[in-house]
Amino acid sequence: MSRLKPPDGEAPYLTLAGVSKNYGAIRVLDEVSFSIRKGEFVCFLGPSGCGKTTLLRVIAGLESQSAGDIQQDGREIARLPASERDFGIVFQSYALFPNLTATENVGFGLKGRGLSRTDIARRCAELLELVGIAEHAAKYPSQLSGGQQQRVAIARAIAMQPGLLLLDEPLSALDARVRARLREEMRDLQRKLGITTIMVTHDQDEALSMADRVIVMNRGRVEQFDTPSTIYRDPSTAFVAHFVGDINTTQAVFQDRGQVQVGDRLIACRSDRSYLASTTVLVSIRPEEVVLRPRAASGGNVFSATVETVEFSGILSRIRLSVPDFSQRPIHACVLGNQIEALNIREGEELSVALPAEKLMLFSVEGDAAC
Ligand SMILES: Nc1ncnc2c1ncn2[C@@H]1O[C@H](COP(=O)(O)OP(=O)(O)OP(=O)(O)O)[C@@H](O)[C@H]1O
Ligand SMILES: [Mg+2]
Repeated sequence: MSRLKPPDGEAPYLTLAGVSKNYGAIRVLDEVSFSIRKGEFVCFLGPSGCGKTTLLRVIAGLESQSAGDIQQDGREIARLPASERDFGIVFQSYALFPNLTATENVGFGLKGRGLSRTDIARRCAELLELVGIAEHAAKYPSQLSGGQQQRVAIARAIAMQPGLLLLDEPLSALDARVRARLREEMRDLQRKLGITTIMVTHDQDEALSMADRVIVMNRGRVEQFDTPSTIYRDPSTAFVAHFVGDINTTQAVFQDRGQVQVGDRLIACRSDRSYLASTTVLVSIRPEEVVLRPRAASGGNVFSATVETVEFSGILSRIRLSVPDFSQRPIHACVLGNQIEALNIREGEELSVALPAEKLMLFSVEGDAAC
């Protein structure tokens, strides 16, 4: 778990230690532990039902944990009610007050805090300006688009200058274009304000493009907590490898560090993980690491392949190949358009496929552990 610790000397801002949550006999959070640094943007990423919202609500105090401790800015908060914790929250469904204008929604929490009416009005105007909807200040939620409502919700969440901003799928109800724009704006805003932020999402592109670090969750547990590039390039489990990005996988038998047997073939692979000899493992490679070549003799990491389909999509094309000596199921390669012509890649064409050893990753079959 050493990778969960912040760098030397830097105190974590938020730490969860062994947080579990049961609903009756069902455990939905299972010993969740991690630390987040001040100012970090962290995403909880995982499939539907894996516990992302529950974990966010436990951090906010909107749900109580069954076990475990939570520390925020040096303070034990696990047993404090939500009202005594320091956070702002934005839900997927905006949850604005329908009978209040944008300005009144943003200013709602500022009332009763010893600020004058003028100060509240000035602060609301600043916040609406910050989220880019100053001209809609007097409108009611029903008169605003989804994207505009979500901007109001964000302004309301940061109005009290909370130490922690919690976002539960804030963009998922929006259409693709608005979503892409807000994604960038929210990231810029978070950087500008330096506010420690946790965002829940089940969208891998969103998590990888926005977060400083991503917590990949599966069935109530943390599978991996790392930077987006490490999560993609060096997934720690088969689940993470398959949940984040495309990947080709086949079963193999572990021989030795750096070598596995696939069917009758011994192939070289990345030697950073070791298993007991003769253990069944999964061997995986990303489509962009599959190298296509003109047909040549096969052997070692070079396989004979037949092109099944070619799917053009902008700069890159996705090629489905039959590689029977590697896998019963077809594998995918992702290549630049100019390679299609250079290698004369067409349906039915025979090629060679090289799977570079340093790009072949090994994983335990779910439930088994590497040694
Ligand atoms: N109040 C509740 N009572 C019983 N079970 C619950 C309750 N709230 C959530 N659950 C269960 O806990 C599990 C985790 O739910 P949660 O809402 O945290 O998932 P999620 O990762 O946010 O999923 P999604 O991506 O669909 O929003 C689910 O199996 C859900 O059915
Ligand atoms: Mg959820």
